[in-house]
Amino acid sequence: MSTKQTRDKSDLLNDLPPYIYGTTRLGDQNLPFEERVGVGRAAMEGTNWFHTSHSYGNALQVLRAAFDQDDTRMPKLIVKIGWKNIEELRDVVHKHLIALRLENLELGQLCLSESLAEEYASGGACYEEFARLKQQGLVNRFVLEVFPWTSDVALKALHGGYPEGIVDGYIFYLNPLQRFASNELWDELVERDEPMIAMRTVAGGNIHRLRDVPGYAWKSYLQERAAEVTPIFERSGIESWTEFCVRFAHSFPLVRATVGATSKIENLREFVSAAENIQPLPTDIIEEIVKLHYRWSDELDMKAEHWTM
Ligand SMILES: NC(=O)c1ccc[n+]([C@@H]2O[C@H](COP(=O)([O-])OP(=O)(O)OC[C@H]3O[C@@H](n4cnc5c(N)ncnc54)[C@H](OP(=O)(O)O)[C@@H]3O)[C@@H](O)[C@H]2O)c1
Repeated sequence: MSTKQTRDKSDLLNDLPPYIYGTTRLGDQNLPFEERVGVGRAAMEGTNWFHTSHSYGNALQVLRAAFDQDDTRMPKLIVKIGWKNIEELRDVVHKHLIALRLENLELGQLCLSESLAEEYASGGACYEEFARLKQQGLVNRFVLEVFPWTSDVALKALHGGYPEGIVDGYIFYLNPLQRFASNELWDELVERDEPMIAMRTVAGGNIHRLRDVPGYAWKSYLQERAAEVTPIFERSGIESWTEFCVRFAHSFPLVRATVGATSKIENLREFVSAAENIQPLPTDIIEEIVKLHYRWSDELDMKAEHWTM
């Protein structure tokens, strides 16, 4: 039985900027270290929040070097923490604190699997541990990462009311080609006014290249989806895919921020300028893409082998 929350959540995560710089490309060791530090520094001028993880190559080293060059512009961080049990999660928190030379993490992205996911779904001891991490000043706030195949964990926990007061929102792929919360979870999050952070702003690149250039899309389903969305994008008359995508994410009132990555200054500028004075997309365009999201979720996302999308 669902115990719907009626609490006003408008104050949660409302300090996030509309665009958050995603740092995966800072860990690409095919690019010179100093060049990546330069991109990191430019991103520090463009936004005051970054998303990162120790799993992104040597991105943490690049970030620390960028912070050392200008510690007056230190961004706040969303950091991936997890996975199988609370000991591992604490260890991951400390790894980040040490590598980044920080005293605390602003926003921990809970990436839960195995017994930790089970505890989360059933209201187990993990919630006390999350509260302890806050009391100890190690992690200030939490959001829960969801995928189609982990959405039931989030749903069960929400129905039990367990995350209330501990988890401030939900983070998942949300862009014109992906909505990685199940249909049921999406509806529940919308009904409960849960704050959201949208990941993968441009769905991995330029829409025409995603559609037309073999191998450019990470997976073939993205190429197929790009073929469906291209006519909608073209009909909008918006010239830049980045602008379309930033406006797309912010057409959902619960979205506080969109996280997009780049290793190029010119593409960073596009993200940053698209995040100024954002106008939501026209309603008919949003409705059309939302319909696709519901269909794709049933047709593929919920049936796919876990972690293959
Ligand atoms: N589970 C998770 O927590 C998770 C999973 C995925 C992503 N993320 C976060 O979200 C961030 C973004 O995800 P993402 O990198 O997968 O997706 P994304 O931001 O949609 O796509 C980034 C890719 O798009 C390219 N790009 C950016 N602007 C472009 C433009 N104007 N024209 C053409 N190409 C452009 C970038 O290439 P260039 O470098 O050449 O610009 C980069 O390869 C990540 O950095 C990470 O922080 C988190």
